[in-house]
Amino acid sequence: MREMARTGAQGASGGHRSPRGGRVLGCLLAVVVAVLAAAPSAQAAAPGIPEGAALWYACTQPQYYGPLNLECPLPYDPRYLRTFLSEFQRFTPENEFKMMYLEPEVNIFDFGLADQIAAFARANGKTIRGHTLVWGDQLPYWVQHPLLPWSKYLLLEMMAGYVETVVGHFATHYPGVVTEWDVVNEPLGPDGKLRRSTWERVIGGAYIRDALEYAHAADPTAKLAINEGNTDFLGPKTEALLSLAAGLKRDGVPLDVIGFEAHVTPRTAPTVGQLVAVWRRFAAVGLNVEVTELDVDDDPGGDTRAAKDAVFRTYAEACREAGNCTGFTVWGVADPYSWLGQTGGALLYGVNFAASPVVGLINGILDGPVQPLAAGPSATPTKRASPARRHARPRSRHHRHTTRRHTSGRARSRRR
Ligand code: XIL
Repeated sequence: MREMARTGAQGASGGHRSPRGGRVLGCLLAVVVAVLAAAPSAQAAAPGIPEGAALWYACTQPQYYGPLNLECPLPYDPRYLRTFLSEFQRFTPENEFKMMYLEPEVNIFDFGLADQIAAFARANGKTIRGHTLVWGDQLPYWVQHPLLPWSKYLLLEMMAGYVETVVGHFATHYPGVVTEWDVVNEPLGPDGKLRRSTWERVIGGAYIRDALEYAHAADPTAKLAINEGNTDFLGPKTEALLSLAAGLKRDGVPLDVIGFEAHVTPRTAPTVGQLVAVWRRFAAVGLNVEVTELDVDDDPGGDTRAAKDAVFRTYAEACREAGNCTGFTVWGVADPYSWLGQTGGALLYGVNFAASPVVGLINGILDGPVQPLAAGPSATPTKRASPARRHARPRSRHHRHTTRRHTSGRARSRRR
């Protein structure tokens, strides 16, 4: 249901982008970024557990949905920009780093929007959680409907090339900006079994470790995450995630963080104790955790602001108390742009960008030093042979990723 809320507006192929529109947006952004760079408004990044928000960016002209809701708010809504810059230290591109945007056609990469986003982050001293490299959803058409059915070998080749190209692109052109990647997103089904996806069906469960190793090879400095939803309580899915994560750590696969999406309602949300219990299990196998997509939807019949604020507070308190929680990201800056609908009160800033009463409290909780478990992925030895060696990839690869066609000239090519 939620998926549909935004997909309809966005279009299945991200097709509302055009080179001309991209240039217009580029100019507009350059102006906005320059103005902001001159303004003294941006707050210095607070020490402590970093607060992030999903940033909504992906279109080249404003599209209005009702009086308040317009898409691509970053370049067009100054309230959105101001709130983001002053209140958050980092962001997750809500859609634009997904495969359907970055490689819309086979072997044709489009880094147009992603480059603008990365430049925006760099100009404003923000960092990015890259979201997401290998996921069963929001894939380009050609991945899900190949001309000839994928063989395991070719899909693995393609995945390797994709991960190397995308991670390498940002590491090369924007060093230090994309500090973390959701390498694998939502690998599990509700029962804890591996979720059916093109990746799992063709490659098998090993795609998870392979993707992590390819990402690590492309940027050994980035923190690498598996991101999953509905694992906030101990139960079959959480146990499955734990055993997957523990197995990867045991094998020396570069994995630093488990992301907990936390798309919840007041009735489905866990308590502080439940969250801390789960997160400490991950600490025990050497993993940090992060809240990656927190928003609080309405239960049937609706919920009060106070009930929603209690949920935000729960996640912040658990994040502080667990000891291994290294990030707190909400899934949107303000209600007018939430994927759950503009009037739902699902985020920390309301329709008029007024801060919810809980914001000050959360800042206080998340402030102060945090001591993550691991020093970073470089501290994680890769004991196993690289997937490239294990799978003995041929020199002439089906999916080369070396040629880009991009009329605007913004797409970069990376030869590896
Ligand atoms: C959602 C975006 O918010 C929507 O705009 C889009 O239409 C669908 O995807 N889990 C994830 C996110 O990991 O990527 C999803 O984001 C929300 C669920």
